[in-house]
Amino acid sequence: MSLQNDLILRAARGEQIERYPVWLMRQAGRILPEYRAVRSKLSGFKELVETPERAAEVTIQPVDLLDVDAAIIFSDILVVPEAMGLSYEMVEKKGPWFEKTIHDESGLKWAESDFDVEDRLSYVLEAIKLTNRELNGRVPLIGFAGAPWTIFCYMVEGKGSKTFSEARKMLYANPSLAHELLKRITKVTIQYLKAQIRAGAHLVQVFDSWAGILGTEQYAEFGLRYLKEISEAIQEVPITLFSKGAITSLPALSKLDCQTIGLDWNMHMDEARKLVGEGRTLQGNLDPCVLYGSHELVANETKRMLDSFTSSRHIVNLGHGVYPDIDPDKVRTFIKTVKEYEITS
Ligand code: CP3
Repeated sequence: MSLQNDLILRAARGEQIERYPVWLMRQAGRILPEYRAVRSKLSGFKELVETPERAAEVTIQPVDLLDVDAAIIFSDILVVPEAMGLSYEMVEKKGPWFEKTIHDESGLKWAESDFDVEDRLSYVLEAIKLTNRELNGRVPLIGFAGAPWTIFCYMVEGKGSKTFSEARKMLYANPSLAHELLKRITKVTIQYLKAQIRAGAHLVQVFDSWAGILGTEQYAEFGLRYLKEISEAIQEVPITLFSKGAITSLPALSKLDCQTIGLDWNMHMDEARKLVGEGRTLQGNLDPCVLYGSHELVANETKRMLDSFTSSRHIVNLGHGVYPDIDPDKVRTFIKTVKEYEITS
């Protein structure tokens, strides 16, 4: 099916665009009362993720209600460890929780990598097909997965953490086990992303949310090495790598076989451009907290970011997911400001 709006794909490939495309990480979620209404009729987050009709419905909501230039499939990065053998619960107001975690070789029995990914994650693939059918080519659909390092963090730590010290401990205490686990996650992730593309994802993004807690050398060994494998395996559609907090790894990241690099708000776009060069698209990076300001402030800060672009190879987004208590009207101001901005560089 041909797309009526393919701006984000052209921006990713470095082709000509008439304006910057814009979407938000976590756009399908609690900021929208319409999302909360769908969610409240179900037992919880997981039922929503695992029911393709409902997942497709909330995936399309931000396209209808916020006018974004792309949809992102409603799911979670944690469906991958679950498919491998570690199931999770999403605890209200607390976040994810895994009953079992991996600490020694015996835990590898919960890290299977020889299984039919299309079968175990069929509910995500079905949601992708349904979403595209209902979108009818209005905007592209983004597929995604967590990066091996970030998934490893949850499989070892079992829950969210500020330091993920259990996960980092294994890198020193048992590096060969860490590599075995990362290798298995990488294998499943490649199969999973390819299955999403076959189901209809037009672009894929890999979220390395905990990249920033590793030093540069460690991230090269336990993070980038596996992102390299993934980006080389995915040639069918553009791929975005978002290594949150990994400023010092930007030069290395920009040598990987990807089209787009996601940035958090800790760096100015013009500085990032100098490190990355002209050969990659940059995505981001407004501080999500800007959206707590007045409409005027949101518009001004958004323009200030857009003014710092020195090339047209950009996809506009926040520097991380939108916070759940943000007023959707502030999001609309952000999006409108981007859409009205004229590209001069
Ligand atoms: O709109 C979108 O971006 C698509 C959906 C999406 C979700 N999670 C839905 C979700 C995406 C892309 C993710 C990715 C994800 N999940 C990441 C990587 C991006 C990031 O934020 O760094 C991570 C680390 C997770 C793991 C996860 N899922 C956590 C830590 C939490 C709890 C924190 C929270 O926001 O509540 C989740 C839950 C989650 N995933 C929600 C949503 C909409 C909230 C659950 C709810 O509706 O109650």
